[in-house]
Amino acid sequence: MLDLLIHNARLPDGRANMSMAVQAGKIVQVVEGPIAGAQAAETVDAQGYLLSPHFVDPHFHMDATLSYGLPRVNESGTLLEGIQIWGELKPQLKADDMIERALTYCDWAVAKGLLAIRSHVDTSDPSLLPVEAMLEVKKRVAGYIDLQLVAFPQDGVLRTQGGLDNLKRALDLGVDVVGGIPHFERTMGQGAESVRLLCELAAERGKLVDMHCDETDDPLSRHIETLAFEAQRLGLQGRVNGSHCTSMHSMDNYYVSKLLPLMAEAQVSVIANPLINITLQGRHDTYPKRRGMTRVPELMAAGVNVAFGHDCVMDPWYGMGSGDMLEVAHMGLHVAQMTSQKGIRACYDAVTVNAAKVMHLQGYGLDVGCDASFVLLQARDVVEAIRLRANRLKVWRKGALIAQTPELAVQIMIAGR
Ligand code: FE2
Repeated sequence: MLDLLIHNARLPDGRANMSMAVQAGKIVQVVEGPIAGAQAAETVDAQGYLLSPHFVDPHFHMDATLSYGLPRVNESGTLLEGIQIWGELKPQLKADDMIERALTYCDWAVAKGLLAIRSHVDTSDPSLLPVEAMLEVKKRVAGYIDLQLVAFPQDGVLRTQGGLDNLKRALDLGVDVVGGIPHFERTMGQGAESVRLLCELAAERGKLVDMHCDETDDPLSRHIETLAFEAQRLGLQGRVNGSHCTSMHSMDNYYVSKLLPLMAEAQVSVIANPLINITLQGRHDTYPKRRGMTRVPELMAAGVNVAFGHDCVMDPWYGMGSGDMLEVAHMGLHVAQMTSQKGIRACYDAVTVNAAKVMHLQGYGLDVGCDASFVLLQARDVVEAIRLRANRLKVWRKGALIAQTPELAVQIMIAGR
């Protein structure tokens, strides 16, 4: 007897009328048409709707989320004013409040079928209060969200006194990934030095690397080059990610033609954050204003794994958002002008399979043997899912139904038609 049987589903690759059988939290069968003689404790008719692997957010700030307006709103809309406001808020932060806000966000995420999140956590303050709070959140949500934490020296690992020691202590406490912010160090040289030190630390401790890298409109911000070089030098291929890389948008084309193969060889992945990049970048421009997101289609064409992150929801940098990765993909395809069918599908991959690859998630996908963690969307295919930011009808994790939303049906009541 199966635990769960879903039939008449469409899969992201376009296969229709598919049946999926689940036992002990794992997918045990995926076939076209009905499974003859199958008996299950629960059977779901997907009515031809899209059954997708759950959404994955590979770049978020769980320690700052839902703090919008505390202590004030970002009036200039710049990255730098956001960092300043976060700095004003930090001394007032209480662990319980941060935990409460993060748990609320995790409820929003589950409702949207978002079941894996990589969150950067600020390690700049020697108290490591955000680290302890987020480790507690990780423990509390472990039954429904895979929360991976990055030790993120928001104020610069070299720029902050004791910055490297604080970051090492965060890793000692159980933080998973080594972060960094080279473009926020005092000089280009210090930025490059921070990349080298942090990559060496990751190699020494067997950790993944995910740095905020070149989150600026400055075409001469080229820390991604150093990051890719260090990844290769230290044998960290496939284990290093550059987040944002917005300066690539403004770089010289010749230089980029040399940079892309280096990134592909070093197997450095890239995370663009479309909602935040389009909001924060280009703020010093008059007209024409740059879009400021990295070169997504060109990176993909060069063989680089590119994912999209949400980055912020209602915090000092961004007052919008709801944990909906379809909203992220929707913005991504607009900003990158990836409006072909192939481009739209690639944007769907950016918030599912590509993001799972960045996080090194185990058991992800819809194949036999994968975890039965998936979402039934009120959409016929991935293109419609993004277009409508489709309703998440049912969300399962390891075979257990953990969220559902009733099917949406609008009634038009206009007289005389
Ligand atoms: Fe970020």
